[in-house]
Amino acid sequence: MTFDEVLAHVLDLLQRQGRVSYRALKRRFDLDDEYLEDLKAEIIQAQRLAVDEDGVVLVWSGEPLPQQSSPAAHAPQREKPSGIPEHRATPDSPPVAEREVSDAERRQLTVLFCDLADSTTLAGQLDPEDLREVIRAYQSACAEVIQRFDGHIAQYLGDGLLVYFGYPQAHEDDAARAVRTGLSIIEALSTLNSRLERGRGIRLAVRVGIHTGLVVVGTLGGGSRHEHLALGETPNIAARLQSLAAPNTVVISAATQQLVQGLFTCWEMHTPALKGVAQPLAVYHVRDVSEAQSRFEVAVTRGLTPLVGREEEMGLLRRRWEQAAEGHGQVVLLSGEAGIGKSRLVQELREHVGSAGAARLTWRCSPYAQHSALYPLIEHLQRFLQWQREDTPETRLAKLERKLQAYHLPLHDVMPLFAALLSLPPPAPYPPLALSPQQQQQQTQAALLAWLLEDVERQPTLLVCEDLHWADASTLEWLGLLIEQAPTAHLLTLLTCRPEFRAPWANRSHLTQLTLSRFTRPQGEAMVTRVASGKTLPGEVLQQIVARTDGVPLFVEELTKMVLESGLLQEREDHYVLTGPLPPLAIPTTLHDSLMARLDRLATVREVAQLGATLGREFTYELLQAVWPLDEETLQRGLRRLVDAELIYQRGVPPQARYVFKHALIQEAAYQTLLKSTRQRYHQQIAQVLETRFPDTVKTQPELLAHHYTEAGFNAKAMGYWRRAGQRALAGSFGFRRGVT
Ligand SMILES: Nc1ncnc2c1ncn2[C@@H]1O[C@H](COP(=O)(O)OP(=O)(O)O)[C@@H](O)[C@H]1O
Ligand SMILES: [Mg+2]
Repeated sequence: MTFDEVLAHVLDLLQRQGRVSYRALKRRFDLDDEYLEDLKAEIIQAQRLAVDEDGVVLVWSGEPLPQQSSPAAHAPQREKPSGIPEHRATPDSPPVAEREVSDAERRQLTVLFCDLADSTTLAGQLDPEDLREVIRAYQSACAEVIQRFDGHIAQYLGDGLLVYFGYPQAHEDDAARAVRTGLSIIEALSTLNSRLERGRGIRLAVRVGIHTGLVVVGTLGGGSRHEHLALGETPNIAARLQSLAAPNTVVISAATQQLVQGLFTCWEMHTPALKGVAQPLAVYHVRDVSEAQSRFEVAVTRGLTPLVGREEEMGLLRRRWEQAAEGHGQVVLLSGEAGIGKSRLVQELREHVGSAGAARLTWRCSPYAQHSALYPLIEHLQRFLQWQREDTPETRLAKLERKLQAYHLPLHDVMPLFAALLSLPPPAPYPPLALSPQQQQQQTQAALLAWLLEDVERQPTLLVCEDLHWADASTLEWLGLLIEQAPTAHLLTLLTCRPEFRAPWANRSHLTQLTLSRFTRPQGEAMVTRVASGKTLPGEVLQQIVARTDGVPLFVEELTKMVLESGLLQEREDHYVLTGPLPPLAIPTTLHDSLMARLDRLATVREVAQLGATLGREFTYELLQAVWPLDEETLQRGLRRLVDAELIYQRGVPPQARYVFKHALIQEAAYQTLLKSTRQRYHQQIAQVLETRFPDTVKTQPELLAHHYTEAGFNAKAMGYWRRAGQRALAGSFGFRRGVT
């Protein structure tokens, strides 16, 4: 049997039985260990059709066989394609066929395509068996990098890899993750190459292409072969870009470049039009990561929107600073959702403090380093020591020693500790470390603390540590030590975090918690005008932006910028005018990933969010339940999870409850992931349920029926209801509340 045949048999068996032990597989198909590993890699990592249980059993996690409940129902599911499962509990629900749901979704996806350059020459140089080994080493080096940035390997294509960022799990920075992955693969290859060169006298080179765009993802294939693949132009363009890249370079499209602007240094390339691609594409060559480490730092280099509101918060921060500067050390934990303005407020305080001549330190936790111990401190030390890329380990040790000499720290203890912390070789003249890992960690933390506090003694200091929700455990432990020592230091420690972060420290009188809330309506309006450099926007546009962004400054900025760049407006001396009728504003591409990331964290209850989103920004339990195809318990559990995650707010308890999406844009994002066909079917079902079970709504809100029938594509029916809505409006009783019954 070929590998593919064995694979097909195993998948078939798995799908039928749900669970199979590795031992059974080895017996049945006469596999050796290596063969089994290859099968596992294909089934678990590449196709994601099963998960490993304790290294003993393979558990099916793909689609259950039709008409049969999945025996693997309690297996952990890494990837749950959205779609409503088959069995249905409500007795009066319409027939199954009518409610069939596909697992496919519309998504913004960043696709990375990576291929070996010159693989034919390589194949000529090596024996096939050696070639296989080399290719495997290359693939596993790539896979390791891809895993680090949480990309998804959709397919191994010969010596190429097709990788998705944004599916099955979206991250707020998928495009940046893809570009970092590309650069890191090239870096990883240079390590691999030094080994290959020594062993076999060869070197590998790759080309990487990246593009971001709309795709439909879902299960493809038949029989026992299922793959989750993205359809649309996006993967093809990524592959074409890859072919344009010089060996060991990364090439990205303008669409991707727009999403990572400022985070990488890029050059525009002059290239011929791509074959088979409708639009000519601007194409960029990525040189390196830039100095800016976050979206906010990029914004700082471009010029920030002048501060709106936040007077009270700034007042509190200034008072805490004054206390700290007088020697009553303070700690402030600033919390709020992504984009609410934490970094902006920090920046404001940094400026205030800097103008008084105080010292400022800024540390950042990173989403890519959540498990690397003391990451923000190490990163800060490296900057402080002014290391250059080309520095040898000896130069780096010398720089460390020179800096440390300016402190009262015992060098013979601290040099070996810091050298280890910074992954440098043991410094020769100093005694080697003879400590248990735990002792070493404790002593390192103590030394870092002593070093900081000595600095603080010289000068009042503002220490900012951003984004604690990404902090590793030892950084949090270290901050705990710092907080204990803080009350006597001339130090204000300002920590920022998102609401999901739970501080592990006890309440202390010098510890203040501050939560940032969303802008009020006038503040939202002020923000729009400031983003438009003080020029007023037409009232209609302003209203739509304010309504859709719900007082989240990041949303306001991105949506306003999108409108300004869209060609919908014409600039006049001190204001803008509309060039035509105003369409509903789309979600800016820059916000897609961050909105999807919020939804994907709750992948298992996404159907509830999607159906709710089809009902509107606001919906009642009663109506949702009436169109929900599964049992009530699943529905209530789903709603509770959405409420707990603060994606929706709840008023009252089921069956009387009503729900509101916290953000209009999240509602929109959930709605837009639905395939057009699914969307239409949902609208049709909603309209029919309204007609049969909610006669009052039909009478008082014909426009709601009209809306659902319009979206369902039932134009004649829609027209009838629009007419009734018009008559009611003329009669003076028109109260359009879309989505509320
Ligand atoms: N009060 C404000 N006034 C003006 N711009 C703001 C304000 N708050 C936030 N912004 C802008 O909104 C964007 C998102 O804010 P940011 O501070 O990065 O959010 P967070 O750190 O909470 O994720 C930034 O570009 C920032 O400059
Ligand atoms: Mg921030």
